[in-house]
Amino acid sequence: MKLLVIGSGGREHALAWRLKQSPRVHKVFVAPGNGGTAREEGLENLAVTDFSQLIDFARKEGVAFTVVGPEAPLAAGMVDAFRAAGLRIFGPVRSAAQLEASKDYAKQFMVKYGIPTATYETFTDAAAAHAHIDQRGAPIVVKADGLAAGKGVVVAQTAAEAHAAVDAMLAADGKHGTQGEAGHRVVIEECLVGEEASFIVMIDGEHVLPMATSQDHKRLLDGDQGPNTGGMGAYSPAPVVTPEMHARVLREVIRPVVNGMKQEGTPYTGFLYAGLMIDPKGRIKVLEFNCRFGDPETQPIMLRLKSDFATLVEAALDGRLDQVEAEWDRRVALGVVLAAAGYPESPRRGDAIAGLPEPDPGGAAGEDCHVFHAGTAIQDDQVVTAGGRVLCVTALGDTVKIAQARAYEVADQIDFAGRQMRRDIGWRAVKRNKK
Ligand code: AMP
Ligand code: GLY
Repeated sequence: MKLLVIGSGGREHALAWRLKQSPRVHKVFVAPGNGGTAREEGLENLAVTDFSQLIDFARKEGVAFTVVGPEAPLAAGMVDAFRAAGLRIFGPVRSAAQLEASKDYAKQFMVKYGIPTATYETFTDAAAAHAHIDQRGAPIVVKADGLAAGKGVVVAQTAAEAHAAVDAMLAADGKHGTQGEAGHRVVIEECLVGEEASFIVMIDGEHVLPMATSQDHKRLLDGDQGPNTGGMGAYSPAPVVTPEMHARVLREVIRPVVNGMKQEGTPYTGFLYAGLMIDPKGRIKVLEFNCRFGDPETQPIMLRLKSDFATLVEAALDGRLDQVEAEWDRRVALGVVLAAAGYPESPRRGDAIAGLPEPDPGGAAGEDCHVFHAGTAIQDDQVVTAGGRVLCVTALGDTVKIAQARAYEVADQIDFAGRQMRRDIGWRAVKRNKK
């Protein structure tokens, strides 16, 4: 069968690569894809993003089902449009994608259904937001309501930083903040402490199939310093999510979402990503929901997935997720992001990338390292940078240290002007093992 994956990042490269390994899948189209999906055997890029053209294409090619990677097409109603055209597609409908698209909606939903999260207030009026900050003091967190590609959050250590964030996101007339559309409202919330984990599941409206746990590294620089990014590296599993914690997350977070969305009249289908903060006492709070797989979490998680991924997605589309199981490689997978010069502020494009390993023609059976592309393009046969996060070098190892060493060994061979890369991906798990 032929499949279609929507998106152009490292997540989509990893999803398409894993889907292609199903013996029943002979082609995966990626729209629009990147330089990596262009080079991968069995994957084919499609330079189309318009919904109706994609629907026409899926019909004409007899695409068995479509998987949506990023949040923007979900929030714009892509799943609704495909379903209306009678096509199978995995993702939440537009109204359900609100769980990510509006932080205010997500917060109200969590309060209504008793899902633990930071206390918060929403503001449209800058003066009221400033007064709230003065009253609460720092540290405090300021978030733009709406999609801001991971850049709409300021964890302010001082009140001055929080005031500046409000001004940037919510200009006096409520219209001209730097976050554009996303800045019309701000959510100001309590600053949580602890260790973060990404808990990603597949949901078919009723049943839940958990993916392997993972941990992202959101800050640009080593030691979790510098600005927030989309994620500079990730590994799976996340040891902070013990088996006991795993059961609690399903019971206290995921199940209430599934039931709540049903009650709201918008049953949730698709990947759901709960960003969690787990404090030293083991208390769980939800930082955010994303209505999609994580990027870069997808890359290590897909490297560990041993089950036929296409079969799992089909089970989800048929409402049979209770009848399947996902099998994971027991090893650790760790992915290191190579980002472009100027990321996250203003990534430079067009730098030639040297030292990429040749794509493995045999696909990936037994492969212990894979270079997933994100912001790359092919210009005159040369792979060049074309986005903020450029590559994610992902490797398996018996321990987190071995996976880390292997990933950096390959990453160190790849170079482009201005390359940015953290050297400490996986540090929390390494530290934990030392104890
Ligand atoms: P979000 O997009 O809401 O996940 O926020 C991005 C990042 O900001 C999270 O991964 C956290 O590192 C941090 N963050 C968000 N909300 C809070 C909070 N209430 N307390 C502490 N850190 C937070
Ligand atoms: N890596 C964080 C995210 O996908 O939102």
